[in-house]
Amino acid sequence: MSIKEHPPRVHEPVLLQSILDTVKPSQGESYLDLTAGYGGHAKSIFSITGNYRDSVLVDRDANTYRYLQKFTQYGTEIIQSDFVTACTQLIEAGRHFNIILADLGVSSPQLDRAERGFSFMNDGPLDMRMDQSTGKTAADIVNCYSQIELEQLIVRYGEEPRAVARRIARAILEGRPYARTSELANVIKQAARRGRTKIHPATRTFQALRIEINDELHQVEEMLALLTELLLPGGRAAVISFHSLEDRLVKTSFSEQVENGYEAELEVLTKKPILGADQDVHNPRARSAKLRVARKK
Ligand SMILES: C[S@@+](CC[C@H](N)C(=O)[O-])C[C@H]1O[C@@H](n2cnc3c(N)ncnc32)[C@H](O)[C@@H]1O
Repeated sequence: MSIKEHPPRVHEPVLLQSILDTVKPSQGESYLDLTAGYGGHAKSIFSITGNYRDSVLVDRDANTYRYLQKFTQYGTEIIQSDFVTACTQLIEAGRHFNIILADLGVSSPQLDRAERGFSFMNDGPLDMRMDQSTGKTAADIVNCYSQIELEQLIVRYGEEPRAVARRIARAILEGRPYARTSELANVIKQAARRGRTKIHPATRTFQALRIEINDELHQVEEMLALLTELLLPGGRAAVISFHSLEDRLVKTSFSEQVENGYEAELEVLTKKPILGADQDVHNPRARSAKLRVARKK
């Protein structure tokens, strides 16, 4: 089968070959994609397994949900919700899968579309919600949180040094109110007082806001705890993370389930994470990507 439509902007699936090499999909296997996005990984995996009917694609974003509808013609189920809710529903329904993938974070089309408000490079409204039907926006946070709440957020989720986070939080309060990403990015740039750096001075604060708004770390932690219930014996789960906070959760969860002695449920197939920077040199999104894969015993 060939799926011909293209996503609005190309999202190149990260670490695709490494996933195929470690997960080793085979004909007839079922697939659960917890972050299906624009179906880049899904299309490649389906081209090997051919099993659309027993497979499920999940994403919380309404635009990707609409895009993924085309897979329904082959019998694939599409769920628009956060992946913890989706995993819980699938467990209650008694579903199991040979392959599970979570490619965390945001997609290129989400970042590139200024109106989604994820980017300090493309000016847009301060939104940053993956699911725009619910929850607080970036504007709610930067206009309403106290200085200490902002400082803690920037330290915890942005991993900025405390002194830098304090300067940024103070400057954010002084510059209120904000409506656009460029206004916020300019204030952060002045306050961060960084010389020439590889990354934009607003990168870490924007990361912190995105994690808070989408409850990203709780989502990842809870989803990881549910994976073994969804995997068939011999089934493989692959997780791609994009910053150290996420990767730590994946590493800890996998090793906890390996170190359970006789009750060990998983075997880790990637002794060290596979790095996008080594494998996917042509794909800028892959620069910070880390892939870990485990197999259910
Ligand atoms: C990096 S993209 C995935 C791209 C996809 N693998 C592809 O090849 O097209 C991440 C996607 O996961 C979705 N997402 C992130 N966190 C989620 C969560 N907790 N629950 C459901 N979807 C989530 C985002 O909306 C986004 O579309």
